[in-house]
Amino acid sequence: MNERFLPTHVGIIMDGNGRWAQKRGLPRKMGHRAGASTFKEIARYANKIGLKYLTAYVFSTENWKRPQDEVDSIIALLRSYLDEMDGYAKENIRVRFIGDRTSFDDDIRGKMARAEEKSKNATGLTLILAINYGGRAEITNAARRIAEEAAKGMLQPEEITEESFSRYLYTNDIPDVDLIIRPSGEYRLSNFLIWQSAYAEYVFMDGVLWPNFKPADLDAAIEEYHHRSRRFGGLSNQNG
Ligand code: FPP
Repeated sequence: MNERFLPTHVGIIMDGNGRWAQKRGLPRKMGHRAGASTFKEIARYANKIGLKYLTAYVFSTENWKRPQDEVDSIIALLRSYLDEMDGYAKENIRVRFIGDRTSFDDDIRGKMARAEEKSKNATGLTLILAINYGGRAEITNAARRIAEEAAKGMLQPEEITEESFSRYLYTNDIPDVDLIIRPSGEYRLSNFLIWQSAYAEYVFMDGVLWPNFKPADLDAAIEEYHHRSRRFGGLSNQNG
C-alpha cells in the first residue's frame, strides 16, 4: 500500500469475539484469545505498511459488567500480552495506554508503565490500547481537571478552547482519529474516542467477526477511507 494514501490514525473496535466462539461451540473466552492473537497480527501489519497511529478498543468502562470469569479471562490475556510487549521496542513500535488505570492491580500498572517506557523512542507505529476506557469518562475527567485549575485561579474561562481542552484528554499528544473500523455488524461507536472522532470516517464491516479479521480487511477499510471525500464541514476537499 502506498504510504501517501494512509490515514494518520486508525481506530478499531474489536467486536465479535463472543459470536466467533459461539459459532464454534467454544466458551467466549476462547473468542477473546483468538481476538488477542488477531490484534497482534494486525498491529504488526499496521507497522509494516507504515501506519503512524493505531488505537484498539480492548476493554471499555462498561465491560466490567460482563460475567466475572469473562472479565478475568480478558485481564489474564492482557497480563500475558503486556509481557510480550517488551519486544515492540525492537520492532520500532511505540506503545501507549489510554483509559483509567487506577482500577487495575499494581503489577498490571507496572507492566503498562514499563511497556511505555521501553518503547518511548520508537519511531514506527504508535500502538494505543484503550483499556478501561470510556469517551464520556475521559471528557468528564478533563472537565474536572480544568475546573480544579480554574478554581485555583490557574486558568481563565476564556482560555478554554477546543485545542486547550483536548490537551486534558488521554490522547493529548495523539492526532485525532481519521478512520474507525468496526467489524461484526454493529453500527455503534460504543463510547470509543467520541471527542477525537468528530471528523472521522467510519467503516463498518458486517461480514467479518474480529478473530477472522485479516490484514486484507485493514487494507480494504483504508481503501474505502481513501475513496470517501472528507470536507471537514468546509467547502474544499482537504484529504483527497
Ligand atoms: C468484543 O467482542 C470484544 C471485547 C469486549 C474485548 C476485546 C478483547 C480482546 C480482543 C482480547 C484481549 C486483547 C488483548 C490485546 C489483551 P464481544 O465479546 O462483544 O463479541 P460479541 O459481540 O460477539 O459477544
